[in-house]
Amino acid sequence: MAYFFHQLDNPINRKEALEVIYSKAVLSLKRKERDFLKNNDREYHLFLDRIEKYLPDLISVYFDIYQSCVFAYPQLIELLTGMIRSWINRDSSLKQVDLQRELSSDWFLSNQIVGGVCYVDLFSKDLKGLEEKIPYFKELGLNYLHLMPLFMTNEGDNDGGYAISSYREIDPKLGSTDEFRKLAKKFRDNDILLVIDFVFNHTSDEHIWAKKAKKGNTHFMRYYWIYEDRKIPDQYEKTLREIFPDEHPGAFTWIEALKSWVWTTFHAYQWDLNYQNPEVLVSMAEEMLFLANLGVDILRLDAVAFIWKQMGTSCENLPQAYKLVEAFNLIARIAAPALQFKSEAIVHPDEVIRYISGKRCQLSYNPLLMALLWESLATREVRLLSFSMEKRFTIPEGTSWVNYIRCHDDIGWTFSDEDASALGINGYDHRKFLNQFYTGKFPGSFARGYPFQENPVTGDCRISGTLASLAGLEKAKMEKNPIEEELAVKRILLLFSIIMTIGGIPLIYLGDEVGSFNDFTFLKDDQKKNDSRWIHRIPYNDSLYLRRYQPDDSAGKIWSGIQQLIQLRKIHDVFQSQNIRVINSGNQHVFAFTKENSRNCILILTNFCEHDQLIEGIIFRKADGTRSWVDIMSQKKQKEEMLLMKPYQFLCFIAPLHKN
Ligand code: GLC
Ligand code: GLC
Repeated sequence: MAYFFHQLDNPINRKEALEVIYSKAVLSLKRKERDFLKNNDREYHLFLDRIEKYLPDLISVYFDIYQSCVFAYPQLIELLTGMIRSWINRDSSLKQVDLQRELSSDWFLSNQIVGGVCYVDLFSKDLKGLEEKIPYFKELGLNYLHLMPLFMTNEGDNDGGYAISSYREIDPKLGSTDEFRKLAKKFRDNDILLVIDFVFNHTSDEHIWAKKAKKGNTHFMRYYWIYEDRKIPDQYEKTLREIFPDEHPGAFTWIEALKSWVWTTFHAYQWDLNYQNPEVLVSMAEEMLFLANLGVDILRLDAVAFIWKQMGTSCENLPQAYKLVEAFNLIARIAAPALQFKSEAIVHPDEVIRYISGKRCQLSYNPLLMALLWESLATREVRLLSFSMEKRFTIPEGTSWVNYIRCHDDIGWTFSDEDASALGINGYDHRKFLNQFYTGKFPGSFARGYPFQENPVTGDCRISGTLASLAGLEKAKMEKNPIEEELAVKRILLLFSIIMTIGGIPLIYLGDEVGSFNDFTFLKDDQKKNDSRWIHRIPYNDSLYLRRYQPDDSAGKIWSGIQQLIQLRKIHDVFQSQNIRVINSGNQHVFAFTKENSRNCILILTNFCEHDQLIEGIIFRKADGTRSWVDIMSQKKQKEEMLLMKPYQFLCFIAPLHKN
């Protein structure tokens, strides 16, 4: 291997060395596969172009990660063989998409994209049912659908499908793998992007690899982190954060069958994969490409922060974790370039940003915006939101945020303590307040949320609850308070107005668009009752969805309000631009920002308070030198005079840019 390294380092021999590797990989293909390459000369040339373009980088990150591993070289050949094979098996219609997207690599930045996310079983029973929902997605204006995990998983408790026992078989309760392929095609025919999870930090303990490991198969034991006694686990745990402390302290679980401790960051039945073994990367790359070949457009990289472990560190966001993401990305660029990645790193904003780049994840959840929208609703103040967005909203060109208000998980207060303290806010106390507020314990709170993973030792806690319940609609309804109800609807629409306009893909957690309340049926289920996130993972409610047509009903108000916002976003291409300029509105309750493209400038004002607010006319001059602002909703020209904002109002002004 040393010889090989030397060759790669030497530019004169580099090309030759790469050719040697590549031809070894081709030789490992089956005869039929090699024939395919011969008989599809034109297509194959395009593939070879990508090999030329990306393979050197792939090899170099690969050896950055695995330089000290003796199996690294043969595993690399295997990786390449798997990639070529997967490309051979890729449907020609998907290869067409590959070509289109290579030509316009920023297709996912379009303001036309609006996303939704749902559990297939809860929303539509199964894949067939989901297909029947396509007209609904169109009616609302959605064209990006994230389906929660739908692969084979453990019976009983399975972390909502995040414990995967086969990446190649759809859970039979939902349908078959062929049906999924058909659905993907149907989505494509309807211009709907398909997003699923790539749960690659761990497998279920029922995955064939884990089952073999449990039987003492040393080859597969090396896929996981398995220790006979507590010595090493104890050393690791000294520096680890507990993710599910309710369930098990620390990060390891005792497995009786193995008489050993296994690394389980999340639940006891979710075994963390050991990427220090290059074979794990090779195997998981094959699984990933299998998913890509099903016709998936975007993969959500689940729990990405945890994929690399190293003694003496937090084992989160380590440099090799980024490298691994780069490796997976390069593998996709070569073998399935239509595929893009979305990072799920619910961590400190300094870390979130590191996963976002053309080389890593082109898309990323925006947990900071999410948390701070809730923070501003609770405090009625926008200074932390404004400060943080000004500092942290900008991401590299050609990448995009995925902005959301709620998702299937809890809300964690992942703002930066340094930002908070710059404004004189103590992060620890503030989180405590937010937890009090959203669990309804703070006097005057409108929220009806529930704690998730309350940790008595650290005082940490996260929040479960649906959007409508957290934003006050449930409380207002129960208390039959029409004024509060009106305010709650406005709060909900205020949050939507921001994620629809700020830049990036807005993602609606389906059920929220009709104002679903918390649901407690999970308490009757032994497998779920200890996981409060099920409060907001609720089945499709026919009658609630029907109420979306009733203009006086809260469901109707929320639904049509969202629909209008979606239309607004799609009509004005200025929403395509990713950047914002945060403007000091001169009012502590009003969050303001502008966006512009070559033709127009947009000014957004949002009042986070239940009282009228005055805004000085100077805001228009601060926003831009141009004089002719028009209120987009009323189409009225705006004069530069004092502006009165109603409770929780959203205002959007547009002005053509000055042509000097
Ligand atoms: C992700 C999922 C979460 C799950 C965890 C473990 O964070 O969003 O629901 O519990 O990964 O897979
Ligand atoms: C932790 C993880 C996050 C995961 C969540 C599950 O916050 O950082 O990735 O989604 O737990 O609740």
